[in-house]
Amino acid sequence: MKIWTVANQKGGVGKTTTTVSLGGILALQGKRVLLIDTDPHASLTYYFGIDSEQLEVSVYDIFARGSQMASEEILQALCPSTIENLDILPATMAIATLDRSMGHKSGMGLVLKKALAKISEHYDYAILDCPPVLGVLMVNALAASERILVPVQTEFLALKGLDRMMRTMELMQTSQSKQYNYTIIPTMYDKRTKASLEAYKSLIETYEDKVWPGVIPVDTKFRDASLSQKVPIEYCPKSRGVYAYKALLEHLLQLD
Ligand SMILES: Nc1ncnc2c1ncn2[C@@H]1O[C@H](COP(=O)(O)OP(=O)(O)OP(=O)(O)O)[C@@H](O)[C@H]1O
Ligand SMILES: [Mg+2]
Repeated sequence: MKIWTVANQKGGVGKTTTTVSLGGILALQGKRVLLIDTDPHASLTYYFGIDSEQLEVSVYDIFARGSQMASEEILQALCPSTIENLDILPATMAIATLDRSMGHKSGMGLVLKKALAKISEHYDYAILDCPPVLGVLMVNALAASERILVPVQTEFLALKGLDRMMRTMELMQTSQSKQYNYTIIPTMYDKRTKASLEAYKSLIETYEDKVWPGVIPVDTKFRDASLSQKVPIEYCPKSRGVYAYKALLEHLLQLD
């Protein structure tokens, strides 16, 4: 199982949209895909119409019970989506308390990685959707993954937020003595605006070949897709946005 994590400490940059878009395309290509919600706001969970407060088991249990959970129990916590081959490990609000209750315990950073190792033969890909805050959840998601996808909104202040994310990855790399592969994804690109163009240019100048040499355009169909609770490739397969995510996926598959 390949594990990718979608992360950026800045909110509203397209993390959840990137997770559902790539996950949907991979699943339609016949890959077995697991999407994991590590955000207490549970946007990914709600995207699929799963009522997170009604769940008996969620990503919370993985943290609370950690190593005691057998693979069968983890598999039971997974919810199906609207398409074949695509499952969700949902989040509940309770995970917001993890920083306070567990953040200080040693070994807490690898809980998710160890749990995913137990179910790794059941999936080809796991994609982790992060909250826009650095805490025990994001640390776990980063530690579990082989590639970090960093969506960045192509607007004036985007690079400032990205700085912080880069520092987080450096810190994690030092503490884990592990080199992260990461790809920056310019999102919500509006070719009519100077701000988008300028932001894109400075991304390339600063981060060079770490930036995917394409863009995810502004596309209102993404919001419509989320309202319909369908993954974008199912809801609007011919939209500009879906084409862009397909191109991004091809690029990522070549890198790995
Ligand atoms: N390329 C796009 N074009 C237009 N709208 C988009 C695009 N990508 C995402 N959106 C919309 O922007 C909003 C924020 O996107 P999304 O939820 O994916 O961001 P996020 O980074 O996960 O946010 P958060 O940090 O709050 O978790 C959503 O309403 C989504 O439908
Ligand atoms: Mg999100």
